[in-house]
Amino acid sequence: MSTLTESRSNPLAQIDWDYVEFYVGNAKQAAHYYMSAFGFDQVAYAGPETGVKGRASYLLEQNGLRFVLTASLVPDDEIARHVALHGDGVKDIAILVEDVRSAFDTAVAGGAKPLLPPTVVEDTGGHIVHAKIATYGDTVHSFVERGAYRGIFMPGFVEQRKTLASARKPGLLFIDHCVGNVGWGEMDSWGDFYARVFGFSQLISFDDKDISTEYTALRSKVMTDARHRVKFPINEPAHGKKKSQIEEYLDFYGGAGVQHMAIRTDDIAATIQALRDNGVEFLDTPDSYYDMLEERVGRIDEAIEMLRAQRILVDRDDQGYMLQIFTKPLQDRPTVFFEIIQRKGSLSFGKGNFKALFVSIEREQEKRGTL
Ligand code: FE2
Repeated sequence: MSTLTESRSNPLAQIDWDYVEFYVGNAKQAAHYYMSAFGFDQVAYAGPETGVKGRASYLLEQNGLRFVLTASLVPDDEIARHVALHGDGVKDIAILVEDVRSAFDTAVAGGAKPLLPPTVVEDTGGHIVHAKIATYGDTVHSFVERGAYRGIFMPGFVEQRKTLASARKPGLLFIDHCVGNVGWGEMDSWGDFYARVFGFSQLISFDDKDISTEYTALRSKVMTDARHRVKFPINEPAHGKKKSQIEEYLDFYGGAGVQHMAIRTDDIAATIQALRDNGVEFLDTPDSYYDMLEERVGRIDEAIEMLRAQRILVDRDDQGYMLQIFTKPLQDRPTVFFEIIQRKGSLSFGKGNFKALFVSIEREQEKRGTL
């Protein structure tokens, strides 16, 4: 099968996150939200003024994070239809590769559906090569090769910098993992997809006995590249007495899609305080979570009282521990949200926090009347 390509050099072995593109109803306002709430800076713009017809895109950056917010300017095109069906959501998890042609060939040979063959686009900054394949739902992966490009982002974008002086800078660093919610019974096949198409391996999995409450359940499997740079957990709903939160997502999103992106920080206390000051809302955690925390996770550097005050979760794997917190949904539909994570030795995922997240979302589900 893929052993031959792996034993040579797998063109998908040295990959990294490049950018994440959201399709949204109003990119101008969404850009302002991500700048004011999450402390991003606007770096570049593409739209009719820069020769791009029918759409407007804003490139936002913060340390190693790069988000593109794109809206349609016409009533009925691919972007407008995507937003009508899914609401604001993640369209493209773009992956940086050294050689797009061989990455694309390897992916398609592994069974990926091709959407755009390797294509060169150029401007005065040089050229990039990109290609696209489909993944779960209407979500796609671009492959991007930028070795020969010295422009601001990619052809079509012009530098247009804006910083909101009023926004506190939370020190968000880069994406840790990006989670997909898929339909009933589809987790294994999408896990296999990342194994066949990207050469990923399974880092860990959680079954419905690990992650369930009295009412609802889910199953999850985490796929990773060999360097643990790019991690894709995949969730599917599991049967319980009431509607799984994954099923609620699928109903509101209109199918499979990105559930959350986890963003790394190296000082979670300062990050969460800055985000709260900017108006970001987080899921709450019951006070009782903190009562036996040290007994559950062992000695940690942080004061329990700070964690309790900020509602930060702590979990452990065999290598160390991690601190996490989850935002409320980033748009009106209860679909995509962010996780903020600081890792202290841990490379993986703990099931205690997974369960805590699940319980918190279930409480929000109850408020929405969708449990
Ligand atoms: Fe996560």
